[in-house]
Amino acid sequence: MKNTPIDYQIVRNCISKNGLTSVGNASIREIKKLIDDIEEASGQRYIRMEMGNPGLPPASLGVEAQIEALKRGVACEYPDIQGITPLKKEISRFLKLFINIDVDPQYCFASVGSMQGSFATFLTVNRMIESKTKTLFIDPGFPVHKQQVKVLGQAFKSFDVYDYRGEKLRDKLEEELSDGSVASIIYSNPNNPAWFCFNEHELQIIAEMAAKYNVVVIEDLAYFGMDFRQDYGKPGEPPYQPSISHYYDKYVLLISSSKIFSYAGERIAALVISPKLYHTNSGDLIKYYGTDNFGHAFVFGTLYSLSSGTSHSPQYALAHLLKSVNDGQYHFLNEVKEYGEKAAIMKKIFLQNGFRIVYDKDLDVPIADGFYFTFCYPGFSGAQLLEELIYYGISAITLDITGSQRKEGIRACVSLVHRNQFPDLEYRLKRFHEDHPL
Ligand SMILES: Cc1ncc(COP(=O)(O)O)c(C=O)c1O
Repeated sequence: MKNTPIDYQIVRNCISKNGLTSVGNASIREIKKLIDDIEEASGQRYIRMEMGNPGLPPASLGVEAQIEALKRGVACEYPDIQGITPLKKEISRFLKLFINIDVDPQYCFASVGSMQGSFATFLTVNRMIESKTKTLFIDPGFPVHKQQVKVLGQAFKSFDVYDYRGEKLRDKLEEELSDGSVASIIYSNPNNPAWFCFNEHELQIIAEMAAKYNVVVIEDLAYFGMDFRQDYGKPGEPPYQPSISHYYDKYVLLISSSKIFSYAGERIAALVISPKLYHTNSGDLIKYYGTDNFGHAFVFGTLYSLSSGTSHSPQYALAHLLKSVNDGQYHFLNEVKEYGEKAAIMKKIFLQNGFRIVYDKDLDVPIADGFYFTFCYPGFSGAQLLEELIYYGISAITLDITGSQRKEGIRACVSLVHRNQFPDLEYRLKRFHEDHPL
């Protein structure tokens, strides 16, 4: 029986009660359930870093606008599939003010979270040309995206970009795209799980290679503007959020409200289809949609089939939030800066106790502090480390499920860790370090 910060026997009992043969390989939801059980049985609070739930209250301007819309009676009406007019207008303004691109409101849509946006995009884009059916995942990435293409029965390719940053990305993309089977590329920027950010040059390389092989780029901006090394929060003023849309004309942008407005529960996001992609025609779409036009197929075929549009009242919430942001009355990045500040402190505590950051650099500069970071401990695989950390009152997920080749890595999500837990974190990591001397 070991002497660990959380009672060894309680942890063992809960692991076996949950039927987990390996904690290290458990999914996010399995870890969550296990930790809920251990917390209840031990009466001890964990440093919970497994789930990417926002740790802040929902943006109140959104809540108020949504309640107002409900009181006005929008619940009884089907929303237009293409999204309500005020939201489309504010998305278009947001794109101009924060990315510095001109996209007419007709190309801006609402989706049921960015998850529906990616699902709809895979579904439509990967059937546009019969010989091009695959998605290329620039990993590590958000595991649910891969689950989506699997559910759709679509094939995919992926590679860990760790060794292919900067100019090296060009040859790697050439290798992956040259057989012509790839229809879409997806990545998130900033990256979930590793929080690196592609720079302008890398985005330009992705654009050039996508153009060469006629591939649609899906840019997931779930953490819009949250590279806190720069201030992307001033409407209409540089610097602007780096984006593929600066370099390429066949893209889909996914802008979730879950993290930037802490609005995850209402499942609402903005989806933008580039005008060029929207007006692309392909005969291979006809058998599914009765039209050869991509935009028409996407809206009146895919979005209609999936959910007949996006729930009405959250669209008013997002419209109002974006309007306040666009008008310079609400500085959304000030609210979420807390994540970056917490990450800086937490990373320091990890580093002081023998841990290392896995994805530590954007080429030659240290990565930003934000919603996630990745860490490892010498001599441990990610799965072994996660399993061991559970006895020290710390939970997270391994990088294995994110397509990372860094088998030693763990993803830490800072959002649910409270500042008043930092002394606990320090104590527990110190104990871990003492028990596992380097
Ligand atoms: C990279 C990434 N994309 C998409 C999502 C999901 O966004 P939404 O809640 O809008 O569906 C998340 C949520 O964690 C994410 O991390």
